[in-house]
Amino acid sequence: MCGIVGYIGQQDCKEILLRGLEKLEYRGYDSAGIAVLNGNDIHVFKEKGRIAKLRESVDEFVSSTVGIGHTRWATHGIPSKINAHPHQSASGRFIIVHNGVIENYLHLQREYLKDVELRSDTDTEVIVQVIEHFVNQHVEVEEAFRQTLTLLKGSYAIALIDKQNPDVIYVAKNKSPLLVGLGQGGFNVVASDAMAMLQVTDQFVELMDKEMVIVTRDHVTIKKLNGEIVERAPYTAELDASDIEKGTYPHYMLKEIDEQPLVMRKIIQKYQDVNGQLNVDTEIVNAVNEADRIYIVACGTSYHAGLVGKQFIEKWAEIPVEVHVASEFSYNMPLLSEKPLFIFISQSGETADSRAVLVQVKELGHKALTITNVPGSTLSREADYTLLLHAGPEIAVASTKAYTAQIAVLAILAAVIAEANGKALSFDLMQELGIIANAMETLCDQKEEMDTIAREYLSTTRNCFFIGRTLDYYVGLEGALKLKEISYIQAEGFAGGELKHGTIALIEHGTPVIALATQEHINLSIRGNVKEVVARGANPCIISMKGLEEEGDRFVLPKVNEDLTPLISVIPLQLIAYYAALHRSCDVDKPRNLAKSVTVE
Ligand code: F6R
Repeated sequence: MCGIVGYIGQQDCKEILLRGLEKLEYRGYDSAGIAVLNGNDIHVFKEKGRIAKLRESVDEFVSSTVGIGHTRWATHGIPSKINAHPHQSASGRFIIVHNGVIENYLHLQREYLKDVELRSDTDTEVIVQVIEHFVNQHVEVEEAFRQTLTLLKGSYAIALIDKQNPDVIYVAKNKSPLLVGLGQGGFNVVASDAMAMLQVTDQFVELMDKEMVIVTRDHVTIKKLNGEIVERAPYTAELDASDIEKGTYPHYMLKEIDEQPLVMRKIIQKYQDVNGQLNVDTEIVNAVNEADRIYIVACGTSYHAGLVGKQFIEKWAEIPVEVHVASEFSYNMPLLSEKPLFIFISQSGETADSRAVLVQVKELGHKALTITNVPGSTLSREADYTLLLHAGPEIAVASTKAYTAQIAVLAILAAVIAEANGKALSFDLMQELGIIANAMETLCDQKEEMDTIAREYLSTTRNCFFIGRTLDYYVGLEGALKLKEISYIQAEGFAGGELKHGTIALIEHGTPVIALATQEHINLSIRGNVKEVVARGANPCIISMKGLEEEGDRFVLPKVNEDLTPLISVIPLQLIAYYAALHRSCDVDKPRNLAKSVTVE
């Protein structure tokens, strides 16, 4: 996690760095800092907490045209001002920001820094001290940087400045995301994500693992660690600055919930040809069709979308699917079928746990498809195929529009495979997705009702259970994750029939139980499960679908195709979580202990 930025040019860069960090705050917000050079003077500003606090501490009278910045999600060392980046070498000459984890930092410390007293508990400080160690041995700075990089084991996106040379930023990348932005008019920038530097440029150059870059005001020189120069053309970041602003919304999460109908329509448009037929790259269709089993690998919300996707692929395309949590898969690989195909689902395309599995399965020679929201992300680049979500930047830490986009793209993929195998669906998927988009709009217009439910059930409760069967169970898992991550209410999703095997012991007088009932064939059984918890004092909140509703249901969803209900039943759960967090005065967009893009294993 963590986000880094850098600027070298003609303007005073403090504001550019701070604004960049604000855009990267989704990557971590335990502490933040910037370092700027003024001639050969270095000025470092760091704070524990948010960028807003850092902003207050920055001396407006210091002016500088070169600097680096960092927003942190702590891995090594507690969140504190001391552990906040940038970190300085012992002499104060070099200063570094780093995103990633250096696995062999203790070894490096023992080997090269016996006489250096480290000031922080971070792995990062070791990097800058080792660089200085080589420079002290009369190694030229660029070479010292390169030599240090060859010693590092783990992941890094690094920017380093040298007090004695205010005309260069040294940059390097391995496994953690990093881009160089090209300015027009004597400046260049670096950032973990293009969003951070859209304020000054839309021209970016991707960096590959184990590359280093010498960034000056007029030049960007990319090199492999063996010194070979790499030529790479820039691309234009197709992001609209308004995509990354909150506009009139109080929170990104609410904006992103509201964007879901729009995203649905965009997906319909992107995955349809001129004749209105489903349109997915033939190579992808063939790869999926050749597989005897599909392994979906993902984390968190994306994993929950995978559970829903499995139902589509198995039911419509009749290909067996296993869904795995990435962090488990990499250490406990199941026995694979003869011709597996791997599908990685990841909003960010950068999640380290998923990437670790991708690296493993590629080494085994298997094919992989990434479904992601971020073109050019690591998981996209390293897989054989990519399907994009077209959801626009998702900035709130709690994922909402990416989840529904993932489900829609998985549905399209399943339908295309089914069609290719002569098992065309009995309904027109794109038409149904259009109906879904309208239903989403209706639900987004019912915020007041969700606010009331949140107030009624969740404003003071200690815990909350979500129950459902089949698809509703998977959506319940997602509803519980949303609630716990932003409101800190202990929330769990359960298969309705499983409660009585243990969990029902937790039901007390007034315990909220949110039950989904959108599937006709299990409508009676889930209602039976609700009766079981009510008999033990629970406070039930039944969310059913039109046509299946019964008296006493708390909320009725518009009628949509039963296979596709997760696309709409999740919306009340997202909104309920949002309002519950507000009622409990929680920071909706930046919940404690979390970060948006989890780039450490
Ligand atoms: C929850 C959430 C996380 C992510 C998970 C995977 O709201 O956002 O659970 O879903 O960290 O992230 P991606 O999809 O970027 O791989």
